[in-house]
Amino acid sequence: MSAVPHPANPHSPLPPGSTFTPGDWQLLARQWHPVANASKITGAPSKATLLDEALVVYRVKGEVVVARDVCPHRGVPLSMGSHDEEGVVCPYHGLRFGAGGRCNRIPSSPNQAIPAKLNLATYPAVERYGLVWVCLAPDADSPAPLPVMPHWDDAGFQQINCPGFDINGFAGRQVEGFLDVAHFAWIHTDTFADPDNQLVPDYTTVETEHGFRADYISSVSNYSEGFRHLAPADFAWLRRFETHLPFTASLTIHFPGEQRLVILNCASPVSARKTRLFVPIARNFNLEQPVEEVHAFNLCIFEEDRAMVELQRPERLPLDMALEAHIPADRSSIAYRRGLKKMGFGEFFLV
Ligand code: FES
Ligand SMILES: [Fe+2]
Repeated sequence: MSAVPHPANPHSPLPPGSTFTPGDWQLLARQWHPVANASKITGAPSKATLLDEALVVYRVKGEVVVARDVCPHRGVPLSMGSHDEEGVVCPYHGLRFGAGGRCNRIPSSPNQAIPAKLNLATYPAVERYGLVWVCLAPDADSPAPLPVMPHWDDAGFQQINCPGFDINGFAGRQVEGFLDVAHFAWIHTDTFADPDNQLVPDYTTVETEHGFRADYISSVSNYSEGFRHLAPADFAWLRRFETHLPFTASLTIHFPGEQRLVILNCASPVSARKTRLFVPIARNFNLEQPVEEVHAFNLCIFEEDRAMVELQRPERLPLDMALEAHIPADRSSIAYRRGLKKMGFGEFFLV
């Protein structure tokens, strides 16, 4: 694992004021995390935070650049700046940074050669599932793969990106909630669940390369209120959950016939106390429905979940199974915690 010192913290690879322990931060920093909806990134500098690191995100000549949000000249945030066709412009002395974060203009001495020291500290970034993914500290020996989203690129599927959604809570709690099937009848009754259908039928989890899979079959409809009649009588709903540890999980819901809805739950750890949720959705039905309606429906579900996640104590996720009580419906939660523990996450999660 690389342990390159942080530019603002010469004795540690962590950003100043990190809310994570060094070991957990380094494990998290070698993974890919989303920081923005790709469609929102234009030439203008945009602000994001990942693992307590302040980032500036911009696009120049089609390419997305993600860098520390600190001008290498006198430390002003570039996210406060402006832009032109050639890159982002610092608000203090007008240095401009273009492709690859390279400084390409010093207005006060335009004819002087530009030293490499004036380039931005950039991070690897890729666009996938309508999101900009960043890796703060790639592990050269074993680079982390991006999560896989079923059906996103399949013919006949529509791709939708909900706006980023902020949660004052830990990413692990949010992801565990996404995998939790026992709470539908309790908090999702204004959106899709039935308060009288509380039973959780047996299901099993199967370990996979990057986490686990759980096929959950129940009679809980995924149609919103008013559309329940669309499901044939006694329809058995299959929900396939697939995790990509630590903080991404997909849910593929098998609607009647060949209709499929895929939700990729990407919980981006802004800090140990804040999470930005990104949710790419793919579906092959209801294609005429305005995407704003899909955003609004999902926003209601995110709100229902957020209300619980922000209240949970301890705030973080105890990986020691003895620290919380478990019920049979928690097979996925238990598999999730075991998977995180196996990845090496430590005391941070035990708080
Ligand atoms: S601080 Fe950015 S140009 Fe001087
Ligand atoms: Fe939920």
